[in-house]
Amino acid sequence: VSLRPYNTFGLDVQARYFARFASADELRQLLKLPAVQSADKLILGGGSNLLFTQDFPGVVLKNEIRGLEIMSEDGDTGTALVRAGAGESWHGLVQYALDQNLSGIENLSLIPGTVGAAPLQNIGAYGAELRDTFDHLEAIEISTGAGRVFTAGECGFGYRESVFKNALKNQFVVTAVVLRLHRQARPNVRYGAIAETLAELGIEGEPTPHDVSRAVVHIRRSKLPDPAEIGNAGSFFKNPEISQARFDDLHSQYPDLPGYPVPGGVKVPAGWLIERAGWKGLRRGPGAGTHGVHVRQALVLVNHGGATGSEVRQLAEEIISSVRQQFGIELHPEVNIL
Ligand code: EPU
Repeated sequence: VSLRPYNTFGLDVQARYFARFASADELRQLLKLPAVQSADKLILGGGSNLLFTQDFPGVVLKNEIRGLEIMSEDGDTGTALVRAGAGESWHGLVQYALDQNLSGIENLSLIPGTVGAAPLQNIGAYGAELRDTFDHLEAIEISTGAGRVFTAGECGFGYRESVFKNALKNQFVVTAVVLRLHRQARPNVRYGAIAETLAELGIEGEPTPHDVSRAVVHIRRSKLPDPAEIGNAGSFFKNPEISQARFDDLHSQYPDLPGYPVPGGVKVPAGWLIERAGWKGLRRGPGAGTHGVHVRQALVLVNHGGATGSEVRQLAEEIISSVRQQFGIELHPEVNIL
């Protein structure tokens, strides 16, 4: 089975076996099959954070569990619990929340991928992260088929991190995510570009969640390539954290180096480092180039068509070593490389 339609990088690799499940029960049935039990398993959502560098010799299980519902309302806190099936599209959930007049995830508009993948890397953008509204998730243990609930604390969320990328890697399949959203709008416009874009769009006064969503969609469309047009998996690297001393040192050398304080140091934008190292807009491969670094956001590696995953990985490795050489900073991939 070609996995090309199932990864946003648009890489044409093969999976030995491929199956879909539309409920937790269907997943449990699949996990009982001897052929599935003995094979390597890859749980696939939207395939928007993956780089395939080779064929997958095992079984790909595609999560298609649907469902969006308001589970309960809490008048005292002015919140509602919203439950979403893991196979729903993330942006579909954002739109559902907006339709229901619930606020809290509008800053996370237009992030590609599924609801079930969101907690794995605690998706974040424009001043918000999944963990800000996360209540709990439902999962199935792959080895036993047993159901388990994970509270926020048990998920071990960090910057683009969770327990599911670390201690519990490849052990659970997320089947549903429950968020606590607000009845009263709480616009989060801390991120400078949102306020600027609201002004540009002619939106005055206190923005509604719809307004914030429109602004975020506008920013994303202007900077990030649409995977339907150019293969990519969003940010290829994480923004590295360095010590304050190291930052001060670099800052005296590069006065326009941006930095955001975080506990224990300073986070610097990998996109800035990669651009300064001269990679932005690079194209490689035959003709006009098959792959390269996005022309408007250096943090995003792209497949213009016809690239292999190994070529993209090779480019990523060269970028890492050039940033190391020029700035003494180690970049780490944010994308899962398989
Ligand atoms: N920058 C450059 N050159 C570039 C790209 C960025 O100089 O080519 C500078 C910008 O000028 C700005 C800073 O880097 O000063 C930050 O840029 P931006 O706001 O575009 O965000 P980012 O740090 O590059 C992160 C997330 C994105 C998220 C945006 C907005 C990570 C790894 N990436 O990117 O997430 O949308 O912030 O909040 O944290 C993703 O994870 O796939 C993703 C797109």
